[in-house]
Order: sequence, then structure tokens, then C-alpha cells
Amino acid sequence: MKTLIDKLKQNTVLSRQEYITLIDSRSPELSEYLFEQAREVRHRWYGNKVYVRGLIEFTNYCKNDCYYCGIRRSNRRAERYRLTEEEILSCCEQGYALGFRTFVLQGGEDPYFMPDRMTSLIRRIKQLYPDCALTLSVGEKSRDEYQAYFSAGADRYLLRHETADNEHYRRLHPAGMSPENRKRCLRRLKDIGFQTGCGFMVGSPYQTTANLADDLLFIRELQPEMVGIGPFIAHQDTPFHDQPNGTLELTLFLLGILRLTLPKVLLPATTALGTIHPQGRELGILAGANVVMPNLSPVSVRRKYLLYDNKICTGDEAAECRNCLAQRMKSIGYEIVTERGDYPKD
Ligand code: SAM
Ligand code: FES
Repeated sequence: MKTLIDKLKQNTVLSRQEYITLIDSRSPELSEYLFEQAREVRHRWYGNKVYVRGLIEFTNYCKNDCYYCGIRRSNRRAERYRLTEEEILSCCEQGYALGFRTFVLQGGEDPYFMPDRMTSLIRRIKQLYPDCALTLSVGEKSRDEYQAYFSAGADRYLLRHETADNEHYRRLHPAGMSPENRKRCLRRLKDIGFQTGCGFMVGSPYQTTANLADDLLFIRELQPEMVGIGPFIAHQDTPFHDQPNGTLELTLFLLGILRLTLPKVLLPATTALGTIHPQGRELGILAGANVVMPNLSPVSVRRKYLLYDNKICTGDEAAECRNCLAQRMKSIGYEIVTERGDYPKD
């Protein structure tokens, strides 16, 4: 199996069957080999730098009803909130003072932030912090709306494709949400010029190894600048409340494969990874990730943006989160840096 890893590292494309074989042949020894190769490639492009993104969870209203998500429309127990423009700007101000040069605005698909409110918010943030990158993660929109965000100054967009397999997609989402539209949105974003991120949950209900192979093929074809993956974690008030969580071990293995498949990709060690294991984010970095996303949302709303159970860092101030992550990265020989951390141009 090491030959498949070597092939990937030499930038030779793997077939669907080869990805399946590689994933199914996992062992502690093979994982260690994969992570060594992934770290070597990561170091070639990024040394021991870890980029930080300040995450602002600005609304948990959502018109969608994804079966896995704790802030889905049908969850009557979710306490809804949305931050005002001033509150969002104050998160940015705090974040800027702490050295953040990328802000990520993430939220449910909240119709309140219609194009005009969103574009005026983007403009204000970019006027106040012209040296910062702004990433959006607000779901599926029309081409015009994405274009308006881009023209207002947004630089990057995260939209996980969730699963590349259409059948699997339909088992994770109610009718009305379509895999075709999700993928169409990603192509629009790339087309418009956003640094674009897709991704998926590891161990989502009904996921097979073949689904993961298709995810990797889809990602290779799309060539996104960012990929977000993390374990699926059940939320008690969703239809998937009794489904098993994704594992640390498989998530790390996929991070390693992703680093070799897309050498320059911006790849976060996610909060979900830190939630299923106390050292999840450190292990993610050691498997090939190069980004962490400390939370800048006001502590008063942190416990309300619960996508899954037992989410970490819901009680910590932004400064604590940043310092905690800096310390964690230092403990494994990595260093968080205050650069924008754009995707490297050739
Ligand atoms: N509404 C935006 C969107 O659809 O892209 C952004 C917010 S959405 C909550 C962000 C991501 O959280 C989703 O793409 C999904 O992969 C992840 N997520 C949701 N529920 C989760 C769960 N139970 N476990 C792990 N990740 C989850
Ligand atoms: Fe937030 Fe550790 S990363 S407290």
C-alpha cells in the first residue's frame, strides 16, 4: 500500500479503486507512513507555519433542514440569535488586535441577511480592515448574489459539498436540497474568482468507502483552494441523534491523503476534530493540515451555535482561544502566524 502513497506523492492520479483500496488498507503503520509523506509535502510549501482564521458565527437562523445539523430549521430547541452589524464589527476589532488577518463569517442560511445587508457588511469590514482577507460561509446562493459578495470585497468562500454521491446526499438532506445545486454553486464560486473551499463530514451516516473515494475524485477535479473535513458528530435534537460519530483515525488518514492529492491546499484541523479527541487539532496538523480556526464569536452566543453535541471552546474568550491554540501548535513544533495566508500562486 505504500506504493499508492508514493504514487500520490509523486502527483500521479489514483483511480477510484486505488483510493478505495488505500482507505480500506489502513493500519497504524500505514497511517504513520502517510503522515510522514504528507508532512514533507506540507513543509515544502508552508514550513511549520499554521494559518489562523477568526471564525465569527454571526447567525444560527437557517432555512434549511439538513438531517445532521443542530441548527436545522426544525430544531425547536435551538435558541436562535443573529449578531448586529456593530457586534460583528466588534468581533473583527478584537480579532484584529489579536493578530487575525482573516475573518470567516459563518452562519445558517438566514434570509434576514439578504444581499444588501450582506454586501454592506462586507464593504464595511473591508474598508476598516483592508489588509485582511474575508471568507464567507453562508450556503447556497444565486450566481448574482455570489458575484455581489465578490464585488463588495469578499475573498474566499467555504461551501462543503457534503458528499459527492447524489444518492448519499439525498439521505443526508430533505427533498428540496439537491446535490446538483450544491456542486453548481461550487463551480460558480470558482468561476467568479473566489478562493473556494469544499469538503465533507467523515463518518456521516450511510457513508461508504466508495463515497469517500468519490469525494476525493470530486475534489481533485474541482481543484479547490481550501478543503474542510471533520468528523460527523451526532446532535441530540436531530434525526441522526443515535448515529455513530466519525472517528479521529479515519479523519486523520483522509487529511493525509488530501495533502498529497492537493499539495498546496489550505486544510484546517477543525473544531470537530478537537471535539472528538483532546489532541485532535494537533494530530490534524501532524497529519498534513495547516490551518486552525479559533472562535471570535461573542461568548454570549457560543453555546447557541451548536452544530453537534459537546462542541469545545464554547466558554472561552477570543483571546483565550487564540492563545490556547498558539500553545497547542507550539507544543508540536508548529507556529501560528498572523499572515492572511492566501493560496500560493504558482
Ligand atoms: N450554512 C452554511 C453552509 O451550508 O455551508 C455554513 C454553516 S454549516 C453549519 C457548516 C458545516 O457544518 C456544514 O457544511 C457541515 O459539514 C458541518 N456540520 C453540520 N452539522 C454537523 C455535525 N453534526 N457534525 C459535524 N459537522 C457538522
Ligand atoms: Fe478555544 Fe482551546 S482553542 S479554548
